[in-house]
Amino acid sequence: MKVVSVVGARPQLVKLAPIAAAFAGTEHQHVIVHTGQHYDADLSDVFFSGLGIPDPDVHLGIGSGTHGVQTGNTLAAMDPVLEAEKPDWVLVYGDTNSTLAGALSAVKMHLPVAHLEAGLRSFNRRMPEEHNRILTDHAADLLLAPTEEAMRHLAGEGLASRSVLAGDVMVDVCLRIRDAVLAGEHPKPVLPEGIDADAPYLLATLHRPDNTDDPERLGAILDALADLPVPVALLAHPRLVAKAEQHGLKLGRGALHVGRPLPYAGLVAAVLGSAGVVTDSGGLQKEAFLLDRVCTTVRPETEWVETLEGGWNRLVPNPHELGRSEWAAIATRPAPGTDRGIPYGDGKAAQRVVEFLEQHKR
Ligand code: UD1
Repeated sequence: MKVVSVVGARPQLVKLAPIAAAFAGTEHQHVIVHTGQHYDADLSDVFFSGLGIPDPDVHLGIGSGTHGVQTGNTLAAMDPVLEAEKPDWVLVYGDTNSTLAGALSAVKMHLPVAHLEAGLRSFNRRMPEEHNRILTDHAADLLLAPTEEAMRHLAGEGLASRSVLAGDVMVDVCLRIRDAVLAGEHPKPVLPEGIDADAPYLLATLHRPDNTDDPERLGAILDALADLPVPVALLAHPRLVAKAEQHGLKLGRGALHVGRPLPYAGLVAAVLGSAGVVTDSGGLQKEAFLLDRVCTTVRPETEWVETLEGGWNRLVPNPHELGRSEWAAIATRPAPGTDRGIPYGDGKAAQRVVEFLEQHKR
């Protein structure tokens, strides 16, 4: 069996790691196509080296652009690659513009498409990712769902016959790296200047266009974070840095200490060292949950609803709309003592993905 994985953005590289490892133990041929949606070393190269992913076989070098330019250029660049490879499966990951372009290119060439992390829904049509995931699910031939909730969404859209419950491959990679970090196999993460790793701190990330692109909203969120009673380590995504500069907003002030994005093991170590997480990232909400840290999500909704059970994750659409003390109490709350079960699976999802691809091969 020959499988082409199409990846391009940071969260897809994390998901690729356990899949590439699962293929490495088989006779199957696994071809990695990097679209180049993310190209900064911080957002791309360190994930290949840090997670032991083989170098991409093909690099499309697409880079940044408007949604149409990025998606369209990737779509056009995929055609000759798929024409040459003629794989048994095209495997696309998550919900980025690279996901949609990879899926669309493959279905138009009558190549079977499998969608990893299928069935997630925010029901927020302002999010580019919501369109990407719905369109990809409806185009794909095999829907690899991470959770029971995702399976329900797919059934609700008439896609049950193409859906299988694989579990979440992020559990595979997150728990493996957690164990390596706890065993001292990775150097200490480079935290932003001013953060004392031995004293309580919150770990924060912000990158969603809904939070970064409107100057008033971004200013309000930064004000609220800067006002918190504990130091906040803000790992700044390039979109946040660019938008803050464009809006004339200072990132490092008050409780806020700004640093660069971390490699995956560094991120896991930084979460483990923190008193809690504040984010708008989907992946980080789940990493906090898997690593036993409370999370506060600066969004009106989440695709990962299981993290909300028992209060491990709390949604705060706009911290500025809350009183200072109420917001601070939420962001710095202690971990609840509730048992969360294993809604994201047992850490063997990647193996199951390979088996499903074998079973459903045309
Ligand atoms: C993308 C995904 C999002 C995912 C996120 C993870 C889409 C629609 N969005 O958002 O779902 O959560 O990746 O990070 O696909 N930039 C750089 N260097 C890079 C990449 C980007 O400086 O290596 C800057 C550019 O100014 C670019 C902006 O960041 O325009 C946004 O990058 P883009 O890939 O378009 O979307 P993300 O916000 O990263």
